Amino acid sequence: MKLSAVFALCAAALSAVAAPTPGFVYTVGQKFYLNGQEYIFAGTNAYWLAQQSNSDIDKAFSDIAAAGLTTVRTWGFNDVTAIPSYGTYYQLFTNGTATINYGANGLAKFDYVVQSAKAHGLHLIVTLTNNWIDYGGMDIYVEQLAPNSGLYHDVFYTDPTIQAAYKTYITAWLNRYSSNPTIMSWELANEPRCAGSTSVASAACNTTTLTTWVSSMSAYIKSVDANHLVAIGDEGWFERPGAQPYPYDAGVGISFDDNILVPTLDWGTLHCYPESWGQADNVTEFGIAWVRDHAAVQRTANKPVVMEEFGVSIANQTEVYPYWWDEVLASGMTGDAIWQSGSYLSTGPSPNDGFTYYPNSTVYELVRGYAGLLRLRG
Ligand SMILES: *[C@@H]1O[C@H](CO)[C@@H](O)[C@H](O)[C@H]1NC(C)=O
Ligand SMILES: *[C@@H]1O[C@H](CO)[C@@H](O)[C@H](O)[C@H]1NC(C)=O
Ligand SMILES: *[C@@H]1O[C@H](CO)[C@@H](O)[C@H](O)[C@H]1NC(C)=O
Ligand SMILES: *[C@@H]1O[C@H](CO)[C@@H](O)[C@H](O)[C@H]1NC(C)=O
Ligand SMILES: *[C@@H]1O[C@H](CO)[C@@H](O)[C@H](O)[C@H]1NC(C)=O
Repeated sequence: MKLSAVFALCAAALSAVAAPTPGFVYTVGQKFYLNGQEYIFAGTNAYWLAQQSNSDIDKAFSDIAAAGLTTVRTWGFNDVTAIPSYGTYYQLFTNGTATINYGANGLAKFDYVVQSAKAHGLHLIVTLTNNWIDYGGMDIYVEQLAPNSGLYHDVFYTDPTIQAAYKTYITAWLNRYSSNPTIMSWELANEPRCAGSTSVASAACNTTTLTTWVSSMSAYIKSVDANHLVAIGDEGWFERPGAQPYPYDAGVGISFDDNILVPTLDWGTLHCYPESWGQADNVTEFGIAWVRDHAAVQRTANKPVVMEEFGVSIANQTEVYPYWWDEVLASGMTGDAIWQSGSYLSTGPSPNDGFTYYPNSTVYELVRGYAGLLRLRG
């Protein structure tokens, strides 16, 4: 092909994406970029950051940066029905009304999370609600704002009052940080499904319900904040009729194949917890295939895809994780973020749900090693 033709093609491809705002992470094809350089998504999770003192936030980011990571995923939600005696919360529901907490134990606290991330050269993925009852999330919206709906979990995705409340909540975040480039991406929700922790799904809920919600809310975010990327934050379930094993035809309401095509979603996510997903006898192989099969969709969709949470029981981590990271590297998957980072804070070890790795551990050294390999691969 003549060089001029190549340039014409490149120009056409580039004009298809909105011009990135300088200083913000953006995507071209299956890669992330920042200021014209490839941005390596070598990540970790630390949902609990905003609950700590400022000096402990600094400590946590310092440990993460020392592992050679670039990206940290954390919670941008804590919905309560009574003001907690300590800690950070962002939204108080009383008598069917949601009030956003802009104060020092609310959004102003998150300002420090962002400031400290920046000081440590890190970028943030901020998730805006939870499928699960931890820190509030969807079930609180349903109970508080649609008490007569039958309390089905998926009322969250369809009820107009709840949609308005969710938009009001996320708009507070979007407006506060729209010009802040330390935030790399918003995520609509952690692990959205038709059913919740204890709340059940209505008979009507299926993948169309969630894809419709994802379409509408991601477009809304783009309309308010054109600077930031948007992803779902889902587990990457497939719903391929008859496919085996179970996570390939999960029936939980998420179709990775459908959602990746939503134009206002910039990148795709998957999580990997084989022991919780009926794959306890086949942990290593399941994870390898899960990465490989999502990387195949990444190529077809031509968007970045990131394994943004993964975990196995602590006894197996050093044995299993290298296989999964090797597959991320080999398959061309854009990046990964382990669940989850730990630090020794002034109050003791940060929260450990059985998957936490701390700075003096073998897993921490593996995290650092694979971050280096991802940087080398590009
Ligand atoms: C909620 O309703 C209760 C009972 O009517 C009332 O005592 C309370 O003050 C109300 N709370 C707010 C924040 O309006
Ligand atoms: C979900 O349910 C709706 C309403 O019953 C139906 O129109 C739609 O085709 C279903 N979607 C899928 C993917 O089955
Ligand atoms: C383990 O998982 C892989 C990938 O999904 C699959 O090909 C293989 O058949 C599974 N083996 C067992 C014993 O389930
Ligand atoms: C996990 O470790 C335990 C104890 O060493 C072992 O019995 C089990 O087979 C391991 N599982 C995997 C998936 O490696
Ligand atoms: C790591 O450091 C912590 C805190 O200093 C200590 O309690 C723990 O025993 C250490 N673990 C290892 C494996 O060295």
